[in-house]
Amino acid sequence: MNLTYGEYRDYWINLMKEAVQHAHQCIRSLKGIITAFNTNIDAVKTLREGDIERLAAKNAISLGDDIEIEVEEISEVKHLLKGLLKAIKTGNGFEQSISKPEVSTWISTNIKVDEVRMGGQAGISANVLATLGIENVYVHAASIPRVQAELFKEHGILIPCKKDDVVFAAPPLEAYNNQHEPMIHWVFEFHEGYTVRLNGFYVRAPKSDRFIASYDPLNSSLHIDPIFREFMRDKAVGVDKALISGFQLLKPRYPDGSTFKDKILRAREVVEEWKSTNQNMWIHLEQAYMTNAEILRFVVKELTKTIDSYGLNEVELNILVKAMDLIDEAKEVSLMDKLILIAKTLKLRCLVLHTRDFAVALTKGDVDLECTKKALWFGSMLAAARTLTGCEMTISEMMKVLKEHPLPVSLESYKHHMQLSNALSIEALKALREGFEHQGYNIVLVPALSNPKPVRSVGLGDTFTSGFLVCTPLANSR
Ligand code: GLC
Repeated sequence: MNLTYGEYRDYWINLMKEAVQHAHQCIRSLKGIITAFNTNIDAVKTLREGDIERLAAKNAISLGDDIEIEVEEISEVKHLLKGLLKAIKTGNGFEQSISKPEVSTWISTNIKVDEVRMGGQAGISANVLATLGIENVYVHAASIPRVQAELFKEHGILIPCKKDDVVFAAPPLEAYNNQHEPMIHWVFEFHEGYTVRLNGFYVRAPKSDRFIASYDPLNSSLHIDPIFREFMRDKAVGVDKALISGFQLLKPRYPDGSTFKDKILRAREVVEEWKSTNQNMWIHLEQAYMTNAEILRFVVKELTKTIDSYGLNEVELNILVKAMDLIDEAKEVSLMDKLILIAKTLKLRCLVLHTRDFAVALTKGDVDLECTKKALWFGSMLAAARTLTGCEMTISEMMKVLKEHPLPVSLESYKHHMQLSNALSIEALKALREGFEHQGYNIVLVPALSNPKPVRSVGLGDTFTSGFLVCTPLANSR
């Protein structure tokens, strides 16, 4: 071993200042960012011991032998409990749609939430970016009643709207429309060690995470506000970056006869409009937890040609690999090989994996390596700081929080770095400085600052992605 954990840790701690300076520079030079398409309200409930047992008892729900049978959608309360138990058992959060409004009504009458927060990749990232000081964050909100508008930051956020036939962008509290219905997602947070004992079942969460049950007719049909579309078509010149997501909520088909394909093709048209107005715009697609393999395959087929970077976590990576049918399931395939396979198959210029221990980017030679490294590290720092407070923060707040509550540089990440340098026969210290070169990709692996008990787990991935996106180069400077 030619690199100790101490040396590895010190390398990253020393790089904090540079990553922050880089982020400051990027933020100052950014003219505008788009975040689309999913914005919603997260009604968050932190699970306390006994909560699930009480709910089941109160509603005489018993869990039979079919507990392990997966359901695609939540159409009865029992499915909600199934989803919750699965997430708790594996420690891996996921999301399911509620197909019947009665279930959503049942939840709102039977469960007292702790707080109401901004939800959806577009909504959460918009707040993170605005708090970082970006002046023009254009966000898509399929529905913007006042309760939704109030969840946005006061400064920096702009919502395209129309009055007297004029299309313009206004701060959320001027753009809201009380005719709109709120899109509510029920988020159940659980901590590592959270235990449920129910009808002979015993589950204990190996990690902290969350289960989301969403009743969201607009975002689940990937509704795109025509005013937003019209406004952004012209304004794209003044926008340097865009984050797109929300495809995970799509359904196979809709009552009007349309299918997910129609919705994805429409979204592609919108993104292509931005790109044709402004080729320099860096577009990042965040996969999120998608359960339907056919929809996921169509999303990547249609959108990966237009985007500049693609992001996902380790659970989502496995889903993608499986959906693309790239690997013989009986074989053990390393994480890195899965990433290379995906990057090659989808012809990606930049693939970003974020896990709770590390983040890794695979880029093609023309994407600046130093910039990618700082972008990943800044994203990691920002997400780590959020694990301590549960909130968005400015760069100086982030530095203060990380100084007051230092979190360890992930040991797992160090182990991963060493394994990779051994496997690829690249000197560990050299790889730290220059990244790994493998199969035509530059690979940069950056640690997370570990916090096994985050205040909130929802939004951490989006915070990482926002920090990363702020610091990527512009698309044409590749
Ligand atoms: C998904 C969920 C949303 C949540 C977000 C967090 O978009 O639908 O409720 O806020 O993930 O990343």
